[in-house]
Amino acid sequence: MPRKFAEIAFTPAVKVLQDRYGSRQTYENFVAKGPANDKITTAISQFITERNGFYLSTVTSEGWPYVQFRGGPPGFLRVLDEQTLGFADFAGNSQYLSTGNLTENNRVFLFLMDYANRRRLKIWGHATVSHDDPALIERLKVPGYSGQAERAILIQVVAWDRNCPQHIPVKYSEHEVAQMVEPLQARIAELEAQLAQAQKSTNLKRW
Ligand SMILES: Cc1cc2nc3c(=O)[nH]c(=O)nc-3n(C[C@H](O)[C@H](O)[C@H](O)COP(=O)(O)O)c2cc1C
Repeated sequence: MPRKFAEIAFTPAVKVLQDRYGSRQTYENFVAKGPANDKITTAISQFITERNGFYLSTVTSEGWPYVQFRGGPPGFLRVLDEQTLGFADFAGNSQYLSTGNLTENNRVFLFLMDYANRRRLKIWGHATVSHDDPALIERLKVPGYSGQAERAILIQVVAWDRNCPQHIPVKYSEHEVAQMVEPLQARIAELEAQLAQAQKSTNLKRW
């Protein structure tokens, strides 16, 4: 059980309920023996780089949670070093909820889903929004993607954790479905060609 994540997420109120339901001591032992998980490993970096979207959670000045989906081509959420992530934030509906929240509280929570393989990753960090740094925005942009990058967001990673696959429904993206269907389509084309050839030979024999 990662230590850094537990330091953040196991608040006194959470621990009270762990006590009540009997999991407190087990978690205490896991945390004592577990790795810090405050740095992005190679495997976690690969997982992040393969995602084409993630849920970004911020907190309003009144303490309300807010979650918004950020989508883009795989790799748009970049791993800049073992404790820094970054992405070019695209122009959207001009409400500026996430970025507005970040001006008052820079804490973020990122939730990354891999539905096809039933995997999920949670990341806690501090975000910095750069509205006037064209060089940084340019560095974070994914070449060829149509989204209009308006600002750069960097995230200093504090902790990450994974959960088991339980209750994650299996879903495939359009791209993943296309990859699965491709050999079937090729086989159908092959069989159609064979059928057409067989029909042609049968017609010739009739003459
Ligand atoms: C014209 C338009 C373009 C959008 N483009 C994107 C996009 O490229 N990527 C994305 O994740 N959301 C896009 N959105 C959806 C949201 O507006 C966007 O996620 C926005 O940044 C919401 O942020 P906020 O809820 O933090 O204010 C778009 C919305 C509109 C109206």
